[in-house]
Amino acid sequence: MRNIAHESPETSTALHVLRERTNSLHARLDSQSELAVLLEPGCSLADYQTATMSLAAAYRGVDSALAKGERYCPPALPAYIPRLPHLLADILLFGLTAPASPVFELSAPSSNASYLGMRYVIEGSNLGARVIYRSLQNSDIAQSIGVDKCYWSSAQTWQLSWPALLRKLAELRTHKEWDEAANSACLVFEHFIRFLTPEKRS
Ligand code: HEM
Repeated sequence: MRNIAHESPETSTALHVLRERTNSLHARLDSQSELAVLLEPGCSLADYQTATMSLAAAYRGVDSALAKGERYCPPALPAYIPRLPHLLADILLFGLTAPASPVFELSAPSSNASYLGMRYVIEGSNLGARVIYRSLQNSDIAQSIGVDKCYWSSAQTWQLSWPALLRKLAELRTHKEWDEAANSACLVFEHFIRFLTPEKRS
């Protein structure tokens, strides 16, 4: 039998369970969300603004849930950086009005494992954010969105939490903890899907 204690962070059981449970949810965001449009050559300023407004509405709930669960953040993991202020900076630049409070609240984490599951989704999304940033840099709207100062330009900095997160996930040892982490990760993915896919607010 495999000795879990000697697993590397990149292959830990917790990470494996998280990937397995969230794979299809990620695929929906990847292919069908308002973010996917940001990767298309014809992405317009209006597309960018729509995606930013929806993402801001989603992050209002995420920032608040993670702030409420701050006590579950292990000391070895960098504190969560709220994303909403960065999105609001983009929104203000366009002279738009910030989205109102979310229709859908997100439950705060209730344990160390559930906190890590939620951070997995947020910190993991930076991997995709880097892809989006590179695509926007080469797009026709690069100048009008001020691409080197826009929300997506922060992805590289936020990426620093990923290795620490993998190490903390690898320390989760029980089925109960893996389940708690995966359940919370799924709730966060579903939260984003509600705000970012065509069937949202239906
Ligand atoms: C168009 C939108 C998106 C694209 C193109 C995209 C793309 C990617 C890519 C390329 C990776 C890295 C895969 C790898 O290196 O193995 C990744 C990982 C990840 N993304 Fe996304 N992503 C998108 C949206 C999102 C969103 C909105 C979320 C969450 C709210 C998210 C959550 C994650 C997570 C958790 C991982 C880490 C997977 C792992 O290594 O376990 N992604 N994404």
